[in-house]
Parts: sequence; structure tokens; C-alpha cells
Amino acid sequence: MAEAVAVRDLVVNFGERAALGPVSFTLAEGSITALVGRSGAGKTTLLRCLAGLLAPSRGEVKMLRGQGRPRIGYVFQDARLLPWLSVAGNVAFGLTHLPRAERREAVAKALAQVGLSGWAHARPGELSGGMAQRVAIARALARAPDLLLLDEPFSALDAFTRRHLQEELRLLLHRVRLTVVFITHDLDEAIALGDRLLVMAGPPGRIVADLPVSDTGGALLKRQVLALLEGSGEEALQSPTLRVLAAHAG
Ligand SMILES: Nc1ncnc2c1ncn2[C@@H]1O[C@H](COP(=O)(O)OP(=O)(O)OP(=O)(O)O)[C@@H](O)[C@H]1O
Ligand SMILES: [Mg+2]
Repeated sequence: MAEAVAVRDLVVNFGERAALGPVSFTLAEGSITALVGRSGAGKTTLLRCLAGLLAPSRGEVKMLRGQGRPRIGYVFQDARLLPWLSVAGNVAFGLTHLPRAERREAVAKALAQVGLSGWAHARPGELSGGMAQRVAIARALARAPDLLLLDEPFSALDAFTRRHLQEELRLLLHRVRLTVVFITHDLDEAIALGDRLLVMAGPPGRIVADLPVSDTGGALLKRQVLALLEGSGEEALQSPTLRVLAAHAG
């Protein structure tokens, strides 16, 4: 499969603090990658570099597909909707470069994709948390992104809504075939949605395992990743489980 993104020797330091790297990997076009790792491992820092929201201290993120400036869709942990705009207005935000008719079409399509066609004129205050998060996903999709990035998109939701939205997103991602990277602390979510797991340890954040998700063997994979996450930082890098996993991924 063609490569969509190449990350080379990426390093982020915040002053004296080494937060990330060096990390290198490539993303295949249409692949869905789950980033997992302990709190503080550098997942959000890596995602922000992929989005171009944060300039790395060293190294680079290279978008290999598409022409001109890459379009990025970014979904945060909370929906971050603008309360004074309608649902449609929020989804249209950032599409000002499009002629009005095209903009309207893109908004309608994105709202349909997340099952909220009937809510275009509602205000964010009238939505449940799960609906608001679907609007945030629609806002990201409406840009027709080259790369869709999601930072723990369902972590603020109750368990039931979360499972429901995971399944919706899984079906949606298989329909649209975007290149996707998402962060989650939920290994079931990582395995259900992802076709690849990048396991991070840190800080400074390093990729300690790069594992394909197959249709079978999810339970084994989950045990492996949990064993891996039991260690932390340098300690994890030394663990025998990790060495086995690294060899397996290698
Ligand atoms: N703006 C910042 N200024 C200074 N240090 C930062 C900044 N953002 C992140 N860090 C540091 O970088 C490291 C990685 O943080 P990051 O937010 O990427 O972790 P994370 O893996 O996303 O954690 P979590 O799972 O808790 O969201 C941490 O040590 C954090 O304190
Ligand atoms: Mg984070």
C-alpha cells in the first residue's frame, strides 16, 4: 500500500524536558493506527506534531500524498464546539474557502455520516455529550482530510455511549477509507478500531512496539500490550516481554 505519511527522527523537547523521541514510522494510506501508552508517554505530543499544531525540536513529519497544504481533521477529547453557532455552523467552521453551495453539501454529507442530519439547526447546548462528539467528528470529516487524528475521542463519555460510538466510528472508517491515527487508553477500542497498534513508553516518548491487529488473536494481543504497559519508560524498554514483542513486530 502507498505510504501517506513519513515521520523521521521526530524529537520534541519542552525546555529542559524531553517529551518525545526520537520516533520514526510511516503510515500507509487508508490505515487505521491506534496509539496506546501510559499517561505522559508523549501520545498527544506526537499527534500534535502530525497535525502540524506543534513544531518538533528535531526531525520531520512528511505528508507524502495530496497536493498543496495537507488537510488535517483533528478531534479532541472534548467536542470543543462553538456554543453560539448551530450544529451546521460548527461543522462548516473551517470551510470558508469553499463556495457556499459546496460548503452546504459538505456539511450535509458529514452530518449524515455521523447520523445527525436532523440536528443541523440545533445549538450545541441542546446536544448530549455523545452527540456533541459526533458533531466534532463531522467537523473533522467535512474538511475531506488527508489525515484524520483523534485524541481519546470517547474518553469523556459513559461506557454505553462509548461502545455505541466506537461501533459507529468503526463502520464509518471502513466506508470512508481515510488514513487515521487515534489515541486511546482502552485496549478493546484500540483493537476493535485499529489495524495497527503503536505502543509508546516514556517520557521521552518512544515507540516500543509496532503490532498488526489481525481479525483473530485480539485477546492475545491485549495481554501482550498490557504486559508491555506494566513496565514504564526505560524499565519498559528493558523488559523481556518487550524484546519478544519488538522481535515479533520487527
Ligand atoms: N505544552 C507543554 N509544555 C511542557 N511540557 C509538556 C507540554 N505538553 C506536554 N508536555 C510534557 O510532555 C510529556 C508528554 O505529554 P503528552 O501530553 O504528550 O502525554 P500523553 O501520552 O498524551 O498523556 P495522557 O495519556 O495523560 O494524555 C509529559 O511529560 C508532559 O508533561
Ligand atoms: Mg494525551
